[in-house]
Amino acid sequence: MTTQGTAMRLGGGEMFDRIAARYDLLNRLLSMGLDLRWRRMLLDALGPLGDGEFLDVATGTADVALALARRGDEVRVVGLDPSSGMLGVGRRKVGDAGLAGRIELVQGDAQAMPFADDRFAGATMAFGIRNVPDRVRGLREMARVVRPGGVVAVLELGEPRRGLLAPFARLHVHHIVPRLGALISGAREYRYLQESIAAFPAPETFCEKMREAGLVDVDFTPMFPEVAHLYVGRVAGR
Ligand SMILES: C[S@@+](CC[C@H](N)C(=O)[O-])C[C@H]1O[C@@H](n2cnc3c(N)ncnc32)[C@H](O)[C@@H]1O
Repeated sequence: MTTQGTAMRLGGGEMFDRIAARYDLLNRLLSMGLDLRWRRMLLDALGPLGDGEFLDVATGTADVALALARRGDEVRVVGLDPSSGMLGVGRRKVGDAGLAGRIELVQGDAQAMPFADDRFAGATMAFGIRNVPDRVRGLREMARVVRPGGVVAVLELGEPRRGLLAPFARLHVHHIVPRLGALISGAREYRYLQESIAAFPAPETFCEKMREAGLVDVDFTPMFPEVAHLYVGRVAGR
């Protein structure tokens, strides 16, 4: 595995460029469709959307951005991601859905967002924070661009530690995910997925990172099975 700083940082935009065309298929297969339910819970965490403008960080192929826009005719969404390949697939999906007027996809890094302070009513990030080199900086940026009182909701995979299904979930993450991923995508990068999941901190530790980034009322909910957690915080008054 290459290390950060070489031509292609694993987990960075270029890595996702390579797998963009097959990403959606792999996602459904590897999560066995469970990711759809997890994503719905991520959006529920934002509360009523009204006519607000929301930010989806690490938007990839825009699944969360699309789901957000479909929740209300007045909702507007900006999706941010460094991978032009993932955004290209996302733009096609947004166009096909007839939602280009309400969803804008922007190329950029979670650690230095090209947005003004307090612009958004809330922000989401699904399976993205694991890839951000400085996670607190990424979370701090989310807190900066969301208005005080707004929700920052993060969905992320992690090493299955608890519950009856944990041994099976670990087998899935460590043996099936990299093999199936490599078989279908032909990309050894799916091994990175396994390694980065195993390296992600325990939920309580990640909640501390969210607080360090200035978020308040931080809490987490384990998804079923416990291979993913939903983390929710609120932007404090300034
Ligand atoms: C596993 S995909 C998740 C995509 C999408 N959110 C979803 O739910 O399907 C991870 C995404 O993180 C993006 N990413 C990697 N480094 C990033 C960074 N520094 N800032 C923002 N996004 C980043 C990748 O380009 C990729 O699209």
